[in-house]
Amino acid sequence: MGRLTVTFLLIASVFSAADVNVYEQNCVGCHKKLPVTLEKFFFDYLLEYSSERQVKKALRRYLKHPKKKSSLAAEELVERYGLMPKTRLSDDDLRRAIDIYWEKYKVFGKIE
Ligand code: HEC
Repeated sequence: MGRLTVTFLLIASVFSAADVNVYEQNCVGCHKKLPVTLEKFFFDYLLEYSSERQVKKALRRYLKHPKKKSSLAAEELVERYGLMPKTRLSDDDLRRAIDIYWEKYKVFGKIE
């Protein structure tokens, strides 16, 4: 491997580690306490909104303004745990967190 390649790989790994953190740090911890997984919520959104663009848009909207009316979660869950708190992430970080969330659970391209 040339020095350039090594440098590139190093930079790429630093960036991807930082990326994972936005999602891991801001979503996963709190969700571990819930009886419904982030994966289940993801598929609810996929079923309801279908395309990558629509899913991401709906997620952005919900995370910025969680409302009972637009929630896809079961009513009993919301009664027991409350709505999720409005995100405090910047638009950029929220976008990145949702991109990571999408990449983690999307099924397209994984089916051979
Ligand atoms: C402090 C706790 C907490 C954090 C942080 C949190 N969530 Fe949630 N989340 C909840 C709770 C509680 C619910 C269930 C109630 C609801 O749906 O609002 C929920 C529901 C959801 C849902 C279903 C929404 C719906 O339609 O009802 C999605 C999708 C979701 N979270 C994704 C995320 C993502 C992505 C992040 C990180 C950017 C995140 N959550 C951060 C607590 C949290």
